[in-house]
Amino acid sequence: MHKLVAMNGPRILLIIGGGIAAYKSCELVRLIRKHGGAVTCVLTKGGAQFVTPMTLAALSENPVHTSLWDLKNEVEMGHIQLSRQADLIVVCPATADLMAKMAHGIADDLATTLLLATDKPVMAVPAMNVRMWEHAATQANIATLRSRGVTVLNPDEGPMACGEFGAGRLPEPAIVMQAIERALAAGPLAGQPDFEVDPGHRPLYGKHVLVTAGPTHEPIDPVRYIANRSSGKQGFAIAAAAARAGARVTLVSGPVTLPTPPGVERIDVETAREMAAAVQQALPADCAVMVAAVADWRTEDYAPEKMKKRGSAPPALRLTENPDILASVAASDKRPRLVVGFAAETENVLEHATEKRKRKGADWIVANDVSGDVMGGDVNLVHIVSDKGVDHLPELPKDAVADALVERIADALNA
Ligand SMILES: Cc1cc2nc3c(=O)[nH]c(=O)nc-3n(C[C@H](O)[C@H](O)[C@H](O)COP(=O)(O)O)c2cc1C
Repeated sequence: MHKLVAMNGPRILLIIGGGIAAYKSCELVRLIRKHGGAVTCVLTKGGAQFVTPMTLAALSENPVHTSLWDLKNEVEMGHIQLSRQADLIVVCPATADLMAKMAHGIADDLATTLLLATDKPVMAVPAMNVRMWEHAATQANIATLRSRGVTVLNPDEGPMACGEFGAGRLPEPAIVMQAIERALAAGPLAGQPDFEVDPGHRPLYGKHVLVTAGPTHEPIDPVRYIANRSSGKQGFAIAAAAARAGARVTLVSGPVTLPTPPGVERIDVETAREMAAAVQQALPADCAVMVAAVADWRTEDYAPEKMKKRGSAPPALRLTENPDILASVAASDKRPRLVVGFAAETENVLEHATEKRKRKGADWIVANDVSGDVMGGDVNLVHIVSDKGVDHLPELPKDAVADALVERIADALNA
């Protein structure tokens, strides 16, 4: 059971798309109201094939909107008002079609027009057939939405209404309700379990830990990109360890093939600039652990068409510097109390790490020698450089490195 944050009358605009799971949104309306929230429902044309405006009006005790053209006060721009009156917009179920439209700025009905016009936070709860979910188009649309700050929940895995099995099921309404509470509550305690507050067991309880992980991909043209060998394993292990220690964890991840650790809120990004924006949006935090191997450079001119071989001369790539995410977090007016950077070096590891700590304004630098097969491997040999000196850890599995680091983070934050 999760702590139920008193909702004190927040207003939810619930957009219901045309999926078989639309019936679960009726239960969601009931839950939001039970927790003190008010709901206004918008039903898409597809959504209206699965649930009726009458059901939703009865459950929400509010008028249900279905068309851009039937809002009474179009002189006062009713559709704009509707999009602004809410504290949070929840799209549930978010069909593949709705998310494609959201990602591409299409506004051809009431729901999509509201989503484009709003200045409020948006959450999408996808539900669809597993092939639709796994389709590159859907995944690209979700990455775009997440990079723009939309909270996209991960669907559940299991047997589906269509008879197939896999990821794509709508999470249970109670789980969606918890995500809504987390999105509404500003404080770092939002969404944390209200049991086991023994600080010995959960030393990071009440703390928000922000972790970055993985590589970034810097596109050269539609088919090529600059990348590095980071697998994301160490960053994901740290996010998992921090969650186990009771923290609320936001994990900003570059392109990797790892599952999201339990209890971790994950934001997927592709480029360094997207990662920088997602990190800024995730602040404030008590601690930032910047593990991602962010590309130092990107090409100055992205070629919108695939670059072709021409004669014998290969094209010259002009590079430009990417934002320095670690330094900007350390210099931010929302600077976390503890800023931890990683330094992957192939030579003079400690010397470079010590210099990097000062140059970036970080509290600690975790130095690792990546001249072997650390990148992508399962073990790591690290040294934690702080103002107190260097803490040498033995070679350990990445999970154990994560636990050791999180233990030290908890000690520092609770000191
Ligand atoms: C019986 C049936 C069930 C459907 N279930 C889903 C679904 O769960 N998820 C989804 O993305 N699309 C589903 N579709 C397809 C959508 O209804 C279709 O793409 C529609 O255009 C989406 O409308 P919307 O943009 O109003 O959500 C289903 C279609 C049918 C006929």
